[in-house]
Amino acid sequence: MIYDLRSDTVTKPTPEMRQAMAEAEVGDDVYGEDPTVHELETLGAELVGQEAALFVPSGTMGNQVAILTHTHRGDEIIAESNAHIVYYEVGGCAVLSGVQLRTIPGRNGYMEPTAIEEAIRGADVHFPESRLLCLENTHNRSGGTVVSPEAMERMIQAAHGKGLRVHLDGARIFNAAAALGVKADKLTRSCDSVMFCLSKGLAAPVGSLLAGSAEFIVRARKYRKMLGGGMRQAGILAAAGIIALQKMIGRLGEDHHNAAALAQGIAGINGLSVDLSSVQTNMVVFDISGLRTTMESFLNQLAEAGVLAGPVGSSKVRMVTHKDISATDIPIVIQIINKISTRTIIG
Ligand SMILES: Cc1ncc(COP(=O)(O)O)c(C=O)c1O
Repeated sequence: MIYDLRSDTVTKPTPEMRQAMAEAEVGDDVYGEDPTVHELETLGAELVGQEAALFVPSGTMGNQVAILTHTHRGDEIIAESNAHIVYYEVGGCAVLSGVQLRTIPGRNGYMEPTAIEEAIRGADVHFPESRLLCLENTHNRSGGTVVSPEAMERMIQAAHGKGLRVHLDGARIFNAAAALGVKADKLTRSCDSVMFCLSKGLAAPVGSLLAGSAEFIVRARKYRKMLGGGMRQAGILAAAGIIALQKMIGRLGEDHHNAAALAQGIAGINGLSVDLSSVQTNMVVFDISGLRTTMESFLNQLAEAGVLAGPVGSSKVRMVTHKDISATDIPIVIQIINKISTRTIIG
């Protein structure tokens, strides 16, 4: 048995998704003729309180199409220092949009409104135009932490007050909403655009949605085409996305419960430390600097014992719970981590 905790992206589609994919009504979506894609886009837009949405192959493309649509070459965009857009998108906003990134430090995805306001440029011949603020909820590199609706509003107001647009990287926005016990649109409706993923905890095989005003989505559709993201009979993929939105959001709490149990177990293991306050959704990040081992060796030993995890920096390991990891798997995973850590601390 392999316990694959590297990411929630490893989830396999459900039997219901596979059935819906096989039976999906399709058409050429570049001609706007795929009814299943239309249904997914309408449903997705509604869930995040926006007018329209666009089905894109990946979260990265969704974020990059949003930046292309909001900005002009030479503009400056503001993002948190550890944002996915800054860290993991291959420098795409420089290459594709020709914009400059201004990063400001945050805490668990929250940036102080005063820091946002200070980063926004005034009128000066030397300055680029500050155009866009990018937010992320849940915040991946902080370990899936949640930003509350009130905190979101404060950051959005700081940007809107100075004429900037706001894009939300909401790859896991339904995890945030589940953890807060609110509807997702409470976190998203004041943003000018929102990207969220179907292919992570919601278990669809492929795809994300970019949502915004109807006018914004018309322009975003052209940029998606430019990047090669115009898909033909994409209803086959959208069919799984519809099930993801209708049936999989309600079970995310289980993943959060399993992550909390995993974190509690890890906290009790000698040589490991975990900040329990940062375990808010489906991710657990723990520190192995108390062990006499390297990251590579620790991860290899885990993998040999059937547990797959990923590194965050040089001393932290990340595990992500998801629908293919059950509550009964958690004690087994804890036992394996314990065995390897004990061996390492002694050896
Ligand atoms: C916060 C965040 N944004 C964007 C993405 C990109 O999604 P994709 O892997 O579909 O490109 C991810 C993927 O892990 C993510 O965690």
